[in-house]
Amino acid sequence: MNDKKAAKRFAHPMPVIFDTDPGIDDAMALYLLARHPALDLRAITTVFGNGSIAVTNRNARILAALYQQAVPVAAGAAGPLHDNALREFSSHVHGDDGLGGVADLAERTALALSPNAQIPPLDARPAHQLICDLVNAEPGAITLIAVGPLTNLALALRHDPSIASKVHQVIVMGGAFGTAGRCGNVTPVAEANVINDPEAADLVFTADWPVVIVGLDVTQEVVMEESYLASMQGRGGAVGDFLWQATRHYQDFYFGCDGIKGIYAHDASAIAYAIEPEAFTLRSGPVRVAMEGIARGQTIQDFRKPSGAQTPWSGCPSQQVCIGVQAERVLALFDQAFDPAFDLNTDRPAGQGA
Ligand code: RIB
Ligand code: CA
Repeated sequence: MNDKKAAKRFAHPMPVIFDTDPGIDDAMALYLLARHPALDLRAITTVFGNGSIAVTNRNARILAALYQQAVPVAAGAAGPLHDNALREFSSHVHGDDGLGGVADLAERTALALSPNAQIPPLDARPAHQLICDLVNAEPGAITLIAVGPLTNLALALRHDPSIASKVHQVIVMGGAFGTAGRCGNVTPVAEANVINDPEAADLVFTADWPVVIVGLDVTQEVVMEESYLASMQGRGGAVGDFLWQATRHYQDFYFGCDGIKGIYAHDASAIAYAIEPEAFTLRSGPVRVAMEGIARGQTIQDFRKPSGAQTPWSGCPSQQVCIGVQAERVLALFDQAFDPAFDLNTDRPAGQGA
């Protein structure tokens, strides 16, 4: 980012609601979001996915305390819109506690850091209500960054369809569009966040609001290798050690399935897009999700020139899909989050981040 652009973004940080299923890569993404001066975290909303809603609620509260973020944390959906849809908790990927077996350690650390030795309670509102309230309070301002199943966003749209025209933008980590053979990580054609609730994803992608999809096409290009992860140790107070330990389980999983000695920076790439969109190449066109049969959960963009023929994409708004990324810029951004010289949110007015 050049100096002028950086100055502008830091002077007017983007207000963000983070919708998440933490999750090891979610925990990393939240750290970058919490630390970066171009972003202003306003709330965290949880969803099932990498664990049950009880697990993701607990982790979101622990992470908010560990990263010293005094923002509401609201509980979201425990399962997909259609109860009979496939529901899978990714405990084989993220561990039974969703944080690679170190959630208890993170909780103890967060308690020690907390001024009143407490992990903050959940907000009284359900996630979709909190999203609607914050969007309605500041029409045109809020960016939603969603890095889990899209159930909460779909529920918010159903609850108050007017929010579609009041959200600044929606950034989604999810889906896969086949760039360089990146097609799916749960089935040959479906990515985890989308297949966990395909009906919700289709609603979100076809709503009349601007969506940017940061899918496997780019997130699998951003590999945090073991040496990069090891370099987090001893940095960011206790955070670097926590993330290094949490990623041990995640790295083993990826070595077992893809043979990489590192991890994909899925959710952190969505945050990187919010901070440095210039690091990504976009493609325009409406996006639909396949609902039936063996293709269930597949994300398909129609990026052809309109021919006038009626298709399932006709009449749907054009959305943006990321098809290229400068991976080194994403890795550099995440590394900066640990840099004390780039001690990010310290100039913020009270109540707008640590
Ligand atoms: O497919 C990757 C996505 O699924 C990430 O958001 C990860 O946290 C899991 O939710
Ligand atoms: Ca996630």
